[in-house]
Amino acid sequence: MGDLSPHRRRRLRTFVPQGAGLLAEEPASALLDLASNDTLALNDHPLLKQSAIDCIARSGVSSGASRLVSGSRPEHQALEEQLADWLGRNRVFLYPSGFQANIAALQLLGDRHSLVLADRRIHHSLLVGVRASGARLQRFIHNDLNDLQQRLTVQRRKQPQRRLVVLSESLFSMEGSSPDVSALVQLCRRNNAALLLDEAHALGVLGPGGRGLGHGHSGISLICGTFGKAFASGGAFLACDEPLGETLLQSSGAFRYTTALAPPLAAAALAALQLIAGPEGERRRRQLLATAERWRIAIAAAGWPRPVGEGPVLAIKLGDDHRANEAAAALEQLGLLVVPIRPPTVPEGEAMLRLSLRPQLPDHALEMLLQTLERFAENQ
Ligand SMILES: Cc1ncc(COP(=O)(O)O)c(C=O)c1O
Repeated sequence: MGDLSPHRRRRLRTFVPQGAGLLAEEPASALLDLASNDTLALNDHPLLKQSAIDCIARSGVSSGASRLVSGSRPEHQALEEQLADWLGRNRVFLYPSGFQANIAALQLLGDRHSLVLADRRIHHSLLVGVRASGARLQRFIHNDLNDLQQRLTVQRRKQPQRRLVVLSESLFSMEGSSPDVSALVQLCRRNNAALLLDEAHALGVLGPGGRGLGHGHSGISLICGTFGKAFASGGAFLACDEPLGETLLQSSGAFRYTTALAPPLAAAALAALQLIAGPEGERRRRQLLATAERWRIAIAAAGWPRPVGEGPVLAIKLGDDHRANEAAAALEQLGLLVVPIRPPTVPEGEAMLRLSLRPQLPDHALEMLLQTLERFAENQ
């Protein structure tokens, strides 16, 4: 049972999208969405909507079965092929969610004889995957490749043949930070360790043409990407090369024994991929990164530590849970939806506001954020 004290209690809220990046809990209370992961603002794009509608008109909503029974549809095949081509990988496999894809990834890479070395801030789905795989788990300090190097060296000395698996994210979902992916890949190669890189938040936004920060580095065993964030759809995928791809197809229970991703979601993700890979994606990415840079500069100029990273996720650390809750409530009063992130999602004493930006945001949103933050500075 989680912590049930009143300030930690989670509650479900229902929002109705109002278009133009607005969400309303009640029709009269539209809030500017600085919380969801629709970072390229594609959720409202007519091409995505039409692709899903056309797909429903052609063949209904559900796939009705797993991919290996009768659930594979042309939308799945096209999305897997075009993603593989775009990412320069041999194989792509779709999953109904990123959570499930990460569990599948761990079952593929690890077993009870393996050791998994995971960044301390890794997404919960990866930890569930480690547990399900039966592998031993060690955590290394967040983005600290010296710590990882030392652990790999010790393990290789002790058990030269043991299977080692390293887990990291290319853009950490809560703090917006990234590891040095090039150094991470080299470290894993030197120590003969498999690497699973979760690109859920980077894909579509960072790396060459939005292909993620792992793109172009050979030696990443598996990439996990999701469609529920910049792709503005739902579902996820694992990308890899052979022979791992064929092993996955033959052995991944999480791929074989689940109803295939709903085809309209695959159709919308395919439309998103085509936009992301083209000039419109490039334009939105450029705008998004310029906005993120402008907000980082302004927050730092207001006396706060510059939010780490380069991407759309900005963390503003407030430390105390109450302060984070109150700051989020104050922003909401002003019309900005910003979610307070509290333990256990982040370590004790590191409660924060997490902003997830979009390509175009009104100037007054940044002004209201800075004015509100001023009231919550630690020395006030
Ligand atoms: C880093 C990371 N990996 C995986 C997931 C899970 O993806 P999905 O929402 O498709 O289950 C998330 C979702 O929050 C995430 O942030």
